[in-house]
Amino acid sequence: MEKFDSMKFKALGKTGERIPAVGIGTWKLGTDRDTEMKAIRVGLELGMRMVDTAELYANESLVGKAIEGEEGVLVATKVSPNHLHADDIENSCNQSLKALGVKTIDLYQIHWPNSKISVSETMAAMEKLVKEGKIRYIGVSNFSVKELEEAQGALKSNEIVSNQVEYSVVVRDPERTMLDYARKNSITIIAYSPLGAGALFSKRLEGLYGILDQIGKKHGKSPAQVALNWLVSKDMVVAIPKASNADHMRENAGGVDFSLDRKEMLGIDSFRVKAAARTSTSRFHTLIKNTAPLWSDFMADRYRKKLQK
Ligand SMILES: NC(=O)c1ccc[n+]([C@@H]2O[C@H](COP(=O)([O-])OP(=O)(O)OC[C@H]3O[C@@H](n4cnc5c(N)ncnc54)[C@H](OP(=O)(O)O)[C@@H]3O)[C@@H](O)[C@H]2O)c1
Repeated sequence: MEKFDSMKFKALGKTGERIPAVGIGTWKLGTDRDTEMKAIRVGLELGMRMVDTAELYANESLVGKAIEGEEGVLVATKVSPNHLHADDIENSCNQSLKALGVKTIDLYQIHWPNSKISVSETMAAMEKLVKEGKIRYIGVSNFSVKELEEAQGALKSNEIVSNQVEYSVVVRDPERTMLDYARKNSITIIAYSPLGAGALFSKRLEGLYGILDQIGKKHGKSPAQVALNWLVSKDMVVAIPKASNADHMRENAGGVDFSLDRKEMLGIDSFRVKAAARTSTSRFHTLIKNTAPLWSDFMADRYRKKLQK
């Protein structure tokens, strides 16, 4: 059994709960179940005891199997933007609970906002789930400050604890749009695609990769580890890299047990990625966000079919 005691912990909103600085992302997992489950278990053993999935990913049962019998794992999943009416939320939550094989979802997140559905109806339904003990905390994802404020304003007895947004050395938008607000209001930023959805390792980002590599060599760490360390060194930020094999998972777990100095942090801070080299999700974010309620079902169906093969 692998054990790693160097995990760093960060606040989850104002809950008083501490969560691992680096957790486990699972989007697109489900094609090679045995290898992926082994990778998740390695991550859990190494202290990455927060797993993020979504009904959209069609892999909650894989996550459920991987965490079976484990204690102290923060289970986070998401309700799709086309399921934000009260009845649909209840239905989605029940299905997620069943697929995950848990009695309570620790963090239930609204995957994308949906401007066509009343936020009061959605938030009342989320609060009902908290009251019933089906979920512990309410989170959101891909919300702007304005959307966060509206959602928080619609809640009567709960606070939004987190906003999951794309943030990495490759995509820096939250520094402009979200971080100050999140810090002022004690909302945890869960950085998704923290390795640039893999773009960090591509030819088009070799300049940035070179800088991370140079810094990493001084610490005996890889570029991926430096990229994760840079992210989680920031106040109120945690990261959820996805890895489908145990080696990548181990490497990612090792992204927390060292400290970048001020000069190294600034060196990475000041690197600006050219628009064309950014991830496609960040380049087309507005379009993806505005159409999310339309494509969610289609994508979920696609993943379901693919993962059944
Ligand atoms: N809320 C949202 O709208 C949203 C959107 C996107 C993602 N997410 C969440 O965020 C998680 C992470 O984002 P992501 O999957 O888009 O991208 P990511 O974690 O930034 O990157 C994943 C890619 O990096 C590779 N990788 C992982 N560790 C590596 C390492 N140590 N060295 C080299 N390559 C490595 C993976 O390869 P292998 O698979 O081969 O290991 C995979 O190709 C998702 O899984 C999901 O849970 C949420």
